[in-house]
Amino acid sequence: MNSMGEKVRVTLWGSSHGPYVGCVLQGLRGGLGLDDKAIAAEMALRRPSAGIGTERREADEVIIASGETGGFSNGDPISIMIANKDIRSGDYHQFRSRPRPGHADLTALLRNPHHDVRGGGMFSGRMTAPLVAAGAICGLALKEEGVEVAGFTRAIGGVEDPEPRSLAEARASRRHPTRACDESLDFAFMEAVKARSEEGDSLGGVVECRIEGLPAGVGEPWFDSFDGCLAKAMFSIPAMRAFEIGEGIESSRISGSQNNDPFVFQDGQLLTATNRHGGVLGGISSGMPLAFRCFFKPTPSISVTQRTVDLETLDNVEISIGGRHDPCIVPRAVAVVEAMARIVALDMLERGGFIGD
Ligand SMILES: Cc1cc2nc3c(=O)[nH]c(=O)nc-3n(C[C@H](O)[C@H](O)[C@H](O)COP(=O)(O)O)c2cc1C
Repeated sequence: MNSMGEKVRVTLWGSSHGPYVGCVLQGLRGGLGLDDKAIAAEMALRRPSAGIGTERREADEVIIASGETGGFSNGDPISIMIANKDIRSGDYHQFRSRPRPGHADLTALLRNPHHDVRGGGMFSGRMTAPLVAAGAICGLALKEEGVEVAGFTRAIGGVEDPEPRSLAEARASRRHPTRACDESLDFAFMEAVKARSEEGDSLGGVVECRIEGLPAGVGEPWFDSFDGCLAKAMFSIPAMRAFEIGEGIESSRISGSQNNDPFVFQDGQLLTATNRHGGVLGGISSGMPLAFRCFFKPTPSISVTQRTVDLETLDNVEISIGGRHDPCIVPRAVAVVEAMARIVALDMLERGGFIGD
């Protein structure tokens, strides 16, 4: 169903052109300060930037309809609601009979003929807004445990950031609209998106994310491994196509002696000398920074002419998609990846008994 997590659980509801999108966040302890400004700052990072994002403009004001008393969580389920106001549903009616290639119109209608096709319905990137709010709240709880999550854009199209990046550099990416770690990359990413967008086309790319401050020993063996739960959460983000932890695919190309990270004692701490494993061994956190990458496909809605079918006339037809769309999802997806990582990390810490008495 539309829920994720065990001890900290998120249930998602709404649709792109319905009155609201929202979620219910269960399992958060009482007494946590629900800092409006911190939540709004995360929402701002998901908002589209001029020239490289959709022209749909939403205020994304977060309404907390339950679970809060006087600015603090009270231990009840937290209901998050965000209004949809800037809606142009007329752009979408044709997709019921002429599904967009690469989007979920066809599969959603095959599964449920009553699917709300407007704006992609429940399969819209808009659904990630309440997840970012829930993630921001989980981030406030993680902060009290000394855990921090920060992501950045590793690549867009063929432009790639070649440098290894620290948590501080990832945090600094918040200054740049593309979520690049430095200004020159921000410019290069921006130019790549603009050039493709002018052709009516779109680009994909890679989000990298770090979780630091996690104690060793977090994660349930086998089916609820830390990396497995993270991967599942990341695959629920629309347009996410592949997940790597640590060296990821590269590990399959090198030998054991090249891949293994030696254990070392340093200043009384048990560490690994390198971190190719990405902070998880056997599905359990090792105490090293957790590092993973999410690979996003290019936005499916493009104005370049494509082939599709007409489900009413049973003809092969051509389609050029108008309306307002992100020419590249990646810059906005960074905030979503961070949010999902925060929700998973808090859930895993609660499941392992790492929080509270
Ligand atoms: C933040 C965000 C914004 C998105 N914006 C758009 C968009 O403007 N147009 C579009 O066609 N797809 C957009 N998507 C992607 C689609 O929602 C997604 O490709 C579609 O639901 C099909 O799912 P799949 O790609 O996971 O198979 C967005 C995704 C995210 C995470």
